[in-house]
Amino acid sequence: MLILKNIKQLVQVNTNELVRGKEMATLNTIDNAWLCMHHGKIDSFGAMDNFPKFTEHDKVEIKDVSGKYVMPCWCDSHTHIVFAGPRHSEFVDRIKGLSYEQIAANGGGILNSALLLNQTTEEELLESAYHRLRNMIHLGTGAIEIKSGYGLTVEGELKMLRVIQQLKQMTNVIIKSNFLGAHAIPLQYKNNRQAYIDLIIDKMLPIVAEEKLADFIDVFCDRGFYTIQELEQILEAGIKYGLTPKIHANQLDNIGAVQVAVKYGAASVDHCEHITHAEIDSLLPSQTIPTLLPSAAFFLGLNYQPARFMIDSGLPIALATDYNPGSSPSGSMPFVLSLACIKLKMTPAEAINAATINSAYAMKVNNIAGSISKGKAANVFVTNKIPSLDYIPYSFTENCIEQVYIKGKLV
Ligand code: NIG
Ligand code: FE
Repeated sequence: MLILKNIKQLVQVNTNELVRGKEMATLNTIDNAWLCMHHGKIDSFGAMDNFPKFTEHDKVEIKDVSGKYVMPCWCDSHTHIVFAGPRHSEFVDRIKGLSYEQIAANGGGILNSALLLNQTTEEELLESAYHRLRNMIHLGTGAIEIKSGYGLTVEGELKMLRVIQQLKQMTNVIIKSNFLGAHAIPLQYKNNRQAYIDLIIDKMLPIVAEEKLADFIDVFCDRGFYTIQELEQILEAGIKYGLTPKIHANQLDNIGAVQVAVKYGAASVDHCEHITHAEIDSLLPSQTIPTLLPSAAFFLGLNYQPARFMIDSGLPIALATDYNPGSSPSGSMPFVLSLACIKLKMTPAEAINAATINSAYAMKVNNIAGSISKGKAANVFVTNKIPSLDYIPYSFTENCIEQVYIKGKLV
């Protein structure tokens, strides 16, 4: 049993419902608090006035964290951390004037990553993904969704999903797996797109389901990538195999993907740079959570997501890193929070709700993560001695996180 005592403020206490609209501006906290972790779970907590009494027989380790905040770990509900190598030459191409879409249309982008991934062994992929994951944990991430989508062949997609399975065994972090066979159309299928979609539906999906390799199914439905009609086909097939949709939508244009995602009960629609009243009206009565990825907009120089408009319309918002080699080569949730505040005009409290309980919902781990609640996984972090919670997004690129506990163990 491990107890943290004299916590300056315990943050996100007993917040177990999805937080929407105006509610996002408030955080439940306890000042001058203690937190007890036992058997990998959050056992109990309270104000120091009610600090529990222990006898000498109790096996208790007590740590004093005076002046420091304790929070639930971030839930990063959208990442692509299994990839074979960086794409820094495209980064330079974009500096010189090419757009992300032009690079993709010329056979670069995701297709470049796929080429390299198919030449890379499962062991090599595992090693680099594990390294990225370890770094993310040190930045406070305690739950992560990871996608396939750089294979685009039966073998490549399965290899990626098996790497994700192995990451689950190698760490105590909460991991959800997302099958994104429909990330791009491979060049050889350019003039016969349906043949690749058939490959996804008839060859990949049955194995993914049989070997229980994924929780979610994803499609990059956008201008230049998958169409609405293709999205519907793939989601219908995935749902038959028990996968929940969680899709890339409205990053480059507005082609109606959000409405289709809602119709199919998607857990989330991610990106949402191009979102209008029509999408908001379809999202409001639904369970589908719009997930904003501001570091991708930052890196590609796109317009930022209209978070204010969305929150003021009453929507819940989730935040994630989108860590990938093409549009967001960073797994830093603290930086995402900074961008959310600085560029999306979210308040620090809104950003923290979005990056914890709401992103837990967006990856369907809200029963075990996203808040300080009895019985949830003891995935929490302790900050440095910072003057205020607002200081975390304010001091962008400064590491404010001193200790990370995953299942109650110091990492
Ligand atoms: O979420 N938008 C689609 N997929 C990724 C980028 C993939 C890549 O460029 O490698 C994203 O931004
Ligand atoms: Fe993505």
